[in-house]
Amino acid sequence: MSKPKILIQIDPDAHASVFDAVVAVDSGVDHLLQYHGVEPTQVRDLVHGAIFTRGPADLKQTAIFIGGQNVDAGEDLLRCVTDSFFGPMRVSVLLDANGANTTAAAAVIAAARHLDLRGSKTLVLAATGPVGKRAARLLARQGAHVRVGSRSADRSKTLRNQLLEQVPDAEIEAVQTATGHEVTAALDGVQLVIAAGAAGFELLDGPTRVAAESLQVAIDLNAVPPLGIAGVEVMDKGQERDGMICYGAIGVGGTKMKLHKAAVQKLFESNDQVIDAEEAFAIGQTLE
Ligand SMILES: NC(=O)c1ccc[n+]([C@@H]2O[C@H](COP(=O)([O-])OP(=O)(O)OC[C@H]3O[C@@H](n4cnc5c(N)ncnc54)[C@H](OP(=O)(O)O)[C@@H]3O)[C@@H](O)[C@H]2O)c1
Repeated sequence: MSKPKILIQIDPDAHASVFDAVVAVDSGVDHLLQYHGVEPTQVRDLVHGAIFTRGPADLKQTAIFIGGQNVDAGEDLLRCVTDSFFGPMRVSVLLDANGANTTAAAAVIAAARHLDLRGSKTLVLAATGPVGKRAARLLARQGAHVRVGSRSADRSKTLRNQLLEQVPDAEIEAVQTATGHEVTAALDGVQLVIAAGAAGFELLDGPTRVAAESLQVAIDLNAVPPLGIAGVEVMDKGQERDGMICYGAIGVGGTKMKLHKAAVQKLFESNDQVIDAEEAFAIGQTLE
């Protein structure tokens, strides 16, 4: 008989995320062990507790989830987790701090329903946040030409350089999108726009969106009014508006939730998986 599924929730925040815990339970985890306020120096002992307790054949019944709000802190913890593994002594691990990986993957999956991403021209507005960065990276890996927008020219150039380190053959263009004119210019020739701005800020106004002749798909990830793309409703899920396909944050959120649960379930298939944005995207594609 197989051992119960144990998920070890590692969270750098003061309280381990309730959202992540509920999704873990809904994903069929038998026991959830929660650790909050976790510092990088504490990770090794937590990982040792996970890998030295069950025989190699049962290690796939133990897995680690790294969540919390701070995506940079989550990435540090992931490095510490994987550095603590050796040989076959490892368990599978999923990073989804702030939901950034599953949200970005769900947005790109939504786009891929309607567009052949390879060779397409795309724009990520507010690409400098955790969700936008990952959406841009996933689009680049799919062979899209990606414009990364920011209110700051420096921040968009820095992001372009980071993305080129991660995806060296990618076509990435840094664009400043602080004004309406700049957004109009950034949309020139673009088939897909993903608005990944902070909650409660409009990034693309209605007339500019409607006037963007090449635009076929508009995806907004901000659920808090005012929404990121004017005229795209929060519940939109493949809704046609003004000659383009629209997705709002809750329309994408349904796929994100399915993907989050599927990723947790996948952890228990083997003990050697590291699920970051790219792996989450691959899991999401199998759900389509
Ligand atoms: N549906 C879901 O399940 C789900 C999950 C996670 C996140 N989200 C949503 O996805 C979006 C992106 O999340 P995130 O955590 O990556 O966002 P974030 O870090 O809060 O912000 C992303 C970017 O927005 C820009 N920004 C910040 N303040 C702004 C302002 N006043 N006006 C215009 N732009 C501003 C900044 O870019 P620049 O300074 O470079 O311009 C920032 O890097 C959010 O709306 C979030 O609520 C949804």
